Amino acid sequence: MAYPLILIALLVSLSLLHHSRTLSCPSTHKQALLHFKSIVAPPPQPTNDSISIFDSWITNNCCNWQGVTCNLALPSKPVTHLSLSAVLPLPYTAPSTAIASLFAIHTLRFLDISENSLEGEIPSPSQGFASLVYLTSLDLSSNLLNGTIPSNLFELRNLKHLNLGGNSLTGFLSSAIANLSKLQVLSIEDNSLTGPIPAEIGNLIQLKLLSLSQNHFSGEIPESILRLARLQALDLGNNSLTSSIPDQIGALSNLSFLSLKMNQLSGEIPASISDLKQLQSLELNRNSLTGLIPSSLFHLKMLKKLNLGANKLLLNHSLEIHPRSSFSFLSLRACGLTGSIPGWLSDQKQLDFLDLSENQLTGSIPLWLTGPQIGSLIMSDNNLTGQIPSNLFNSRNLSVLDLSRNGLSGHLPVNIGNASAIMILLLGSNNLSGHIPPSITNITRLLALDLSANQLSGDSFPQFRTDTYLAYVDLSENSFYGEVPVGFGPQIRSLSLASNKFTGPLPAKLITMNFIENLDLHDNYITGAIPHWIGQMSAIYVLNLRDNKLEGAVPFAISNLSKLHVLDLSGNNLTGTVPAEMGRLTGMVDTPITYFSISDLFTFSLDLSDITTYWKGALRDLGYQRVSTYANLDLSRNQVSGRIPGELGNLKGLKSLNMSYNMLEGEIPATLGLLHKLESLDLSHNKINGSIPPSFGSLYQLTTLDLSYNRLTGRIPVGGQMSAMTDPSSYANNSGLCGFQVQVRCEPDDPSEVSEGELDAQGEESIGDHWLNLKWGVVYGFLLGFSVAVVVSYFAGFLYPNAPKRYLRSLR
Ligand SMILES: *[C@@H]1O[C@H](CO)[C@@H](O)[C@H](O)[C@H]1NC(C)=O
Ligand SMILES: *[C@@H]1O[C@H](CO)[C@@H](O)[C@H](O)[C@H]1NC(C)=O
Ligand SMILES: *[C@@H]1O[C@H](CO)[C@@H](O)[C@H](O)[C@H]1NC(C)=O
Ligand SMILES: *[C@@H]1O[C@H](CO)[C@@H](O)[C@H](O)[C@H]1NC(C)=O
Ligand SMILES: *[C@@H]1O[C@H](CO)[C@@H](O)[C@H](O)[C@H]1NC(C)=O
Ligand SMILES: *[C@@H]1O[C@H](CO)[C@@H](O)[C@H](O)[C@H]1NC(C)=O
Ligand SMILES: *[C@@H]1O[C@H](CO)[C@@H](O)[C@H](O)[C@H]1NC(C)=O
Ligand SMILES: *[C@@H]1O[C@H](CO)[C@@H](O)[C@H](O)[C@H]1NC(C)=O
Ligand SMILES: *[C@@H]1O[C@H](CO)[C@@H](O)[C@H](O)[C@H]1NC(C)=O
Ligand SMILES: *[C@@H]1O[C@H](CO)[C@@H](O)[C@H](O)[C@H]1NC(C)=O
Ligand SMILES: *[C@@H]1O[C@H](CO)[C@@H](O)[C@H](O)[C@H]1NC(C)=O
Ligand SMILES: *[C@@H]1O[C@H](CO)[C@@H](O)[C@H](O)[C@H]1NC(C)=O
Repeated sequence: MAYPLILIALLVSLSLLHHSRTLSCPSTHKQALLHFKSIVAPPPQPTNDSISIFDSWITNNCCNWQGVTCNLALPSKPVTHLSLSAVLPLPYTAPSTAIASLFAIHTLRFLDISENSLEGEIPSPSQGFASLVYLTSLDLSSNLLNGTIPSNLFELRNLKHLNLGGNSLTGFLSSAIANLSKLQVLSIEDNSLTGPIPAEIGNLIQLKLLSLSQNHFSGEIPESILRLARLQALDLGNNSLTSSIPDQIGALSNLSFLSLKMNQLSGEIPASISDLKQLQSLELNRNSLTGLIPSSLFHLKMLKKLNLGANKLLLNHSLEIHPRSSFSFLSLRACGLTGSIPGWLSDQKQLDFLDLSENQLTGSIPLWLTGPQIGSLIMSDNNLTGQIPSNLFNSRNLSVLDLSRNGLSGHLPVNIGNASAIMILLLGSNNLSGHIPPSITNITRLLALDLSANQLSGDSFPQFRTDTYLAYVDLSENSFYGEVPVGFGPQIRSLSLASNKFTGPLPAKLITMNFIENLDLHDNYITGAIPHWIGQMSAIYVLNLRDNKLEGAVPFAISNLSKLHVLDLSGNNLTGTVPAEMGRLTGMVDTPITYFSISDLFTFSLDLSDITTYWKGALRDLGYQRVSTYANLDLSRNQVSGRIPGELGNLKGLKSLNMSYNMLEGEIPATLGLLHKLESLDLSHNKINGSIPPSFGSLYQLTTLDLSYNRLTGRIPVGGQMSAMTDPSSYANNSGLCGFQVQVRCEPDDPSEVSEGELDAQGEESIGDHWLNLKWGVVYGFLLGFSVAVVVSYFAGFLYPNAPKRYLRSLR
């Protein structure tokens, strides 16, 4: 009886054994995967349209798990491929140590853990990549990895494909990279690597794709790179490379993509470049290249994208060019083009993007340029004249039109609204006249509209639909009149109507602009009081109502604008007192705002980095920190009376405070001495009495001071910058100030002679750059760029499917 039972038990266990042999992955592999899962610990998915792959990681046989592939032909059924890209939901992050748990799977050939927000260093030598001797493909891109590239990564001698891009890796690229002699694809783009590109990279002769772009590599492009004869794509853009382009670059005869843009390369474009017969895309923009553009470049039959903009190159204008290339993207920005728009462009039937800005082109815009295919046409900063051809707007493909800063005249074409795909329309600083055609509201995707500095007029404004995306509108410096228009849709971020002839009160509809950050109405004829509802425009950073005809008191509700950095109410007819509530303007108390990086968003979406950089010159040379640390309050040239509230001493972010030309009286509150960031203080032309508070001795940043035309008496404080404020006109026409600054001896028993530093300053290190050098335009321009960039980013997904994956993911 026992016999058959034992036999059965034996058979069962044998079959079980067999079963597990045929179906299951090795338990060490399963353990490794479960360990990985436990470290990344993905949270449960809230919605069922994003089911986690880890839901399938529950059965016994890990070969059936999603993302896991085994080699079923081998007896042990080892795990060989792991496709774990984007398995963690954003914004969830996990520690990078999870990667190390996979090192136990020695049979791995293919490992992709890209786009997972893994945080921390790439597991270090002790945790060992070295065990993965079969690995041919490793993708750790688009995570949050930092630290240096661990040296044992260079022991993965079978690697053909290595992608570490889109992380925050630092340090040098080791010459040991040469050990990975089978590499065909090497991408380390978008990290923070420094130092030179190692010459040993020339040993990787199997390379087809090499991307080291968006790092901080310096030094020259190593000559050894010319040995990489199989290269099809070489991207060294956006680094700090110097010296010149290797003369023999033409030796890389299989190159179809070459980008050296955004470096500091000098010298000429080598003639050999026209040996690159396979070249489809050449980006040399934003370097310091000099000399003539070789006309042979235009003979490369495959070339579709050519960007030479922003160098010191010249196109020989007596040269007859008969291009054999059929460009879809051509930028000859700042290439010294003169005369009329080159006629040879008329044969370019595939042109989607054309940038001829910053040349000295004259004459009118030819009709042939207005074909239906053009997507982006950028010809700002030339001397073009004549009218804007209406044909241009018959195109449904036009998405960017920038004709700013030319001499264009005439009316805006009435069919402007037929170009319904325009997102960015910049026609500022021309000589356009007439009114804005109503059809403009049919441009449903319009994001940015700049018609500033023309001679446009009229009092009827197009009413944009409520589903418009319009975010940035600049109609300043024209001759528009009538009531302040408000029909720009609910998405508006920045509205400038300055320097026109608008009349009437501030329209209540302004409060429907829920996202407005910049409202600039200065230099108009706006009347009435500043309404209380202004306190509801809660997104506002900059409010400029300077030089209007506003009257009544400053409403205390203005203190609800918690983001307000810049408030300019000067040159009105405001009365009443300065509300003490203004001391609660938290945007001016401290300004720790971190702005987005503008050009990033633009390059991702539209390859418009060049436009943003030059957009109104606003971003040029603009230090980041400067803008994020300013605050300014200006109530000057009104009829404000009463005392200066001591609460203003709370506004510690203020760089400039101007209350001049009012009817202020009483004493200067000692708390103003707490405004340690103050660079400019103007209280002149009031009726202020008493003495200058000794606390002013701790205004260490002060560079401009005007207290003239008041009734001040007593000793001028010393210490801080006060000792340097020795211009007597700062103190003129008062009632008896004394001190060395005005070269008047004080009476020894002057009661105002209090010990210095009553309100002690905490020594703050000098920021060094002086905000006051910034012009208004710059400040505004910055915010404008910021606003639009954010909105443009919404579009990146559907317009530009090639945008980096991680970025698109972050938009979901
Ligand atoms: C999504 O989940 C809900 C319950 O959580 C369920 O009612 C619904 O049917 C699911 N939809 C799909 C498409 O699975
Ligand atoms: C890497 O990132 C982690 C987590 O964000 C941080 O704790 C660590 O200090 C960083 N290491 C380096 C070298 O920057
Ligand atoms: C690279 O290879 C050389 C010689 O083959 C060897 O000496 C060196 O240790 C290797 N470096 C790494 C990091 O594997
Ligand atoms: C250039 O690279 C730096 C980092 O190296 C990055 O911050 C910047 O956004 C990049 N610029 C563009 C236009 O890609
Ligand atoms: C260049 O590409 C062609 C076709 O893809 C290939 O046959 C040739 O071997 C390549 N040349 C080199 C040097 O790799
Ligand atoms: C420009 O082209 C013309 C006509 O081909 C030629 O005569 C002239 O030498 C060129 N100028 C320069 C500076 O190369
Ligand atoms: C305009 O765009 C449409 C749709 O994107 C495209 O099919 C068409 O070919 C373009 N027109 C021209 C002339 O390129
Ligand atoms: C272009 O216009 C500017 C300003 O009107 C003028 O100074 C310059 O000489 C003009 N250049 C040419 C080439 O006509
Ligand atoms: C706008 O386009 C439509 C059809 O595409 C055309 O019928 C109409 O004439 C155009 N409008 C103008 C003002 O050109
Ligand atoms: C602008 O146009 C007006 C006529 O509308 C003309 O008188 C004036 O000279 C033009 N200005 C420039 C700079 O072209
Ligand atoms: C907007 O477009 C529609 C249809 O294309 C047209 O009927 C309407 O007249 C246009 N509106 C304006 C103000 O041009
Ligand atoms: C300012 O207002 C006062 C009284 O409200 C008035 O008398 C004066 O004319 C106004 N000044 C200006 C420039 O409007």
